[in-house]
Amino acid sequence: MNKITKAIIPVAGLGTRFLPATKAVPKELLPIVDKPTLQYIIEEAAASGIEEVLLVTSAQKPEIGKHFAKDVALEDFLRAHGKDALCEKVAHLSDIVTLSFVNQEAPLGLGHAVSLGRDFAAGEAVAVLLGDDVVAAEPPALAQLIQVYEETGASVLGVQTVAEADVSKYGIVAPGEATASGCIVQRLVEKPAASEAPSNLAIMGRYVITPPIFDLLDDTAPGKGGEIQLTDALNTLAGQENVYACAFSGRRYDVGSQLGFLEANVEFGLARADIGEAFKDYLRTLCAHLD
Ligand code: UTP
Repeated sequence: MNKITKAIIPVAGLGTRFLPATKAVPKELLPIVDKPTLQYIIEEAAASGIEEVLLVTSAQKPEIGKHFAKDVALEDFLRAHGKDALCEKVAHLSDIVTLSFVNQEAPLGLGHAVSLGRDFAAGEAVAVLLGDDVVAAEPPALAQLIQVYEETGASVLGVQTVAEADVSKYGIVAPGEATASGCIVQRLVEKPAASEAPSNLAIMGRYVITPPIFDLLDDTAPGKGGEIQLTDALNTLAGQENVYACAFSGRRYDVGSQLGFLEANVEFGLARADIGEAFKDYLRTLCAHLD
């Protein structure tokens, strides 16, 4: 069993739910206050022990690489103008983890995107994080999954319960035997109708996957939405070996939805040491005038 030091983050999707913003700006770079969503995800990975990240990206999104690349001219400019704290925020971006990139030529689905990480994984278990789910948690959500992996040596899916009305948006777990942190997965269903959902335990964009998943992904036919679904390959894996669901603790924001994106911006804004108090005063005044 290897230590989990690598993560795959797929960022090649079209972000259609966030149009028109995502016509020119990748969804993963939309900011929560002043930091792109993807940066929160990569910082969570680093805080969970990840050292190398593979971004599965597309030729239409060169800005993602640019955000994390070293920018000597900008750093020199900020330093020359006495903006050392800002310079530190920019310089830090290329040091969080070691980044590499692979191109997904067409958005054939999350499963297809993850399958492009086979060479990067190089026969090891790796983490997968999705940029749609930002989680405020201590310890970080991914670290909670890695702990279950270290206890079991098996694949682990991060789950939380969702309202019955929302099960059709997620991969849903049919729970088997209960464990200290969740359960063993009996089977998985991608985006089931509420009437057909085996539970309301939804996969939340955090995974540890073991090497057999790559062969299974190659053999997975397009499923829901005509896309190659990671959930379908994990369902096959769960039929062959133990896969664990870890009900991680923490506040999770669905930043792929407009409401979740606004909630994240309000709550992260309130938590900021610099602007939090002023923002709270503003919200108090605003709320007093709401009917
Ligand atoms: P989503 O389905 O939430 O992203 O995939 P999307 O397809 O970009 O969004 P909508 O539904 O059109 O609004 C979760 C993550 O997987 C990536 C996305 O970039 C997103 O971060 N993804 C998805 C890929 O990298 N490749 C794909 O083929 C599909």
